[in-house]
Amino acid sequence: MHRPVTRLFPGPPLELSLEGLYLEQDLYARGRPGKPFIYTNFISSLDGRIAIATGDRTTHFVPPAIVNPRDWRLYQELAGQADLLITSGRYFRQSLLGEAQDALPLSSSQAYDDIRDWRSSRGLATQPDIAILSGSLDIPVAALVPYRSRSIHVLTGENADPRRVASLRDNGIAVIRAGNGNTVDGMRMLEYLAARDYRSIYAIAGPAVFHTLTSSGILKRLYLTITLQVLGGNSFDTLCRGDLLEPVAGMRLAGLHYDPHAPANGAQLFGIFEPREQIPPAH
Ligand SMILES: NC(=O)c1ccc[n+]([C@@H]2O[C@H](COP(=O)([O-])OP(=O)(O)OC[C@H]3O[C@@H](n4cnc5c(N)ncnc54)[C@H](OP(=O)(O)O)[C@@H]3O)[C@@H](O)[C@H]2O)c1
Repeated sequence: MHRPVTRLFPGPPLELSLEGLYLEQDLYARGRPGKPFIYTNFISSLDGRIAIATGDRTTHFVPPAIVNPRDWRLYQELAGQADLLITSGRYFRQSLLGEAQDALPLSSSQAYDDIRDWRSSRGLATQPDIAILSGSLDIPVAALVPYRSRSIHVLTGENADPRRVASLRDNGIAVIRAGNGNTVDGMRMLEYLAARDYRSIYAIAGPAVFHTLTSSGILKRLYLTITLQVLGGNSFDTLCRGDLLEPVAGMRLAGLHYDPHAPANGAQLFGIFEPREQIPPAH
């Protein structure tokens, strides 16, 4: 873990410690009450796999070949700077099946003591609150039990099943209708969360949530780890799933680091991307 990474962009190349690489970006300071900074991250293989299927599991999961502790360290650093996590109904269903990748961050492992110190030095609560996006509201209440000490907001669409809304509310969970049909609208979600003074919001869900964030233009930063491996396979997820984006969501490179130390027998790039300003088409 103590071996450095190389910053490739902005240049010139420079060796930097992995620990603190993302913490020092101080994402909490980038948001303000009423104007939260929303960011997300993914780990992907070179051929774009963020999740794959295997015969012995009912749900897709992050390919074991790309998972590694150095990327996980940065994932925890991103979580450590959040006052709210965005996740999905899918996570809690996977969790009940014992198929989720891990408990929601922040981890209580000693390895991340410095991240918890960072939080407390900025007056952040021990753990970030949780927003769950779900159209189906198929969210097993039992899977929420480990998180009941945090504020939990379930966001759904206007057409959400009233019985499921009532059942969650009966269990003390806030349910907010924030979109037409069964889908949460990104801007309406942002308004709701901004009104609650969240400042740094970390989306740890998958491709459908990523589509919601990019299509509504509310994502401020994407952290993308690309492992230099080709996995193949026929059933997999990539970063974004949903209708074609028109106009496309152009991004600019804000940072790039090279890590030759993981995953096993490989290397990885840590990319940081920000949305480009939309330039209206010339007529
Ligand atoms: N490699 C990585 O970095 C990484 C990161 C994240 C996830 N993953 C993996 O990616 C795989 C696929 O994830 P996924 O397909 O389940 O995508 P997802 O984006 O994680 O979640 C999809 C679920 O989120 C809810 N949702 C998303 N957008 C919504 C909206 N606008 N309004 C209402 N509900 C919305 C829906 O929940 P309901 O079904 O409850 O309606 C939908 O089923 C998972 O296996 C996960 O492990 C990998």
